[in-house]
Amino acid sequence: MRSVAVTNIGSLITNDHSLGLGLLGELSDAAILIENGLVAWVGSSGAVPETDESIDVEGRTVLPGFVDSHAHLMFAGDRASEFSARMAGESYAAGGIRTTVAATRAATDQELEDNFMRLAGELRSSGITTFETKSGYGLTTKDEARALRIASKHTSETTYLGAHVVPSEFADRPDDYVALVTGEMLDQVADSAKWIDVFCDRGAFTVEQAREILTAGKERGLQPRIHANQLQQGGGIQLAVEMDCASADHCTHFDAKDIDALAGSNTVATLLPGAEFSTRANYPDARKLWDAGVKVALATDCNPGSSYTSSMPFCIAVAVRDMHFTVEQAIWSATKGGAKALRRDDIGAIKVGMRADLIDLNAPSALHLAYRPGVNLINKTYTSEDFK
Ligand code: NIG
Ligand code: FE
Repeated sequence: MRSVAVTNIGSLITNDHSLGLGLLGELSDAAILIENGLVAWVGSSGAVPETDESIDVEGRTVLPGFVDSHAHLMFAGDRASEFSARMAGESYAAGGIRTTVAATRAATDQELEDNFMRLAGELRSSGITTFETKSGYGLTTKDEARALRIASKHTSETTYLGAHVVPSEFADRPDDYVALVTGEMLDQVADSAKWIDVFCDRGAFTVEQAREILTAGKERGLQPRIHANQLQQGGGIQLAVEMDCASADHCTHFDAKDIDALAGSNTVATLLPGAEFSTRANYPDARKLWDAGVKVALATDCNPGSSYTSSMPFCIAVAVRDMHFTVEQAIWSATKGGAKALRRDDIGAIKVGMRADLIDLNAPSALHLAYRPGVNLINKTYTSEDFK
């Protein structure tokens, strides 16, 4: 059995609430013992058990790897000119997705996988050790199936988003497209997708269509999540709770009824600050959700249209500055919150029995993640596999 000690940790963020050390369970002058890729012991640096190998982090900060519960990495091309037009005054609309659909359909499998791997590498260097990714830029049975087939080689958190928008060839018969998404397309992707998602918003799918699509997915054994209330106030968040979605994502708009529904549920509100930033939308008030008892996650939404960032530290900094999160709340949401949004209890904290997915942060405390915006503080990122 391989055992590795990580020693001389100036500040260790455990996310272990039971320690009674605040929201993040922060220990100073700490160490971790890892056995076969799992955390076996956490304690003070002076008391660490003997091991074959050790890593001295020289007083830096260690925290759980970030969990990115919402990304769209299976696509080709980019939409830099659309972003530039928005910054000059244009507004964002769901229809822009069709530009990426055309580029994605034209790409080879190898091109798609290369682009995916480039972005997965970026996520990892921003401290992300688990990521979810969606299809949704193919919108034919063949193209959705290949996106999920390729993605599932690299992450277990794969999401079928055939219901991203109605593609142009179905523009005048959206019901036929819903039938395809819930029928033949679902059959072909079911083996390589864990989740099913729908973009329930203006210019995409209605609440009724979303309910039908998520229900069909659940019947095929996929678990539901949803893009809700990004572009306008609507019924997407209520539907998320009704369907027991793991997460309602975006939540740029919400009202008191939405907060109540989320607070009494098992559905996480996943906020995507990169999307408001890149579409120049108003930011939701994350603190309001938190104070009402809603579980919140932060994710990158990495995609070529509305949020072309792969940086979780950037999302943390924006959530603190513009969504009124405390730094601690933002860090929790990017780690434990992301794990909850994926209904995972083996990641998002540094506790005995959990995966040793870690960030070695080049800073005296994790507060620096928001305090030093735009500065790369990630010294090294480890996943459980690195310790096996
Ligand atoms: O999560 N909102 C829907 N889907 C993506 C955007 C896709 C695009 O513009 O290409 C999102 O923001
Ligand atoms: Fe998205």
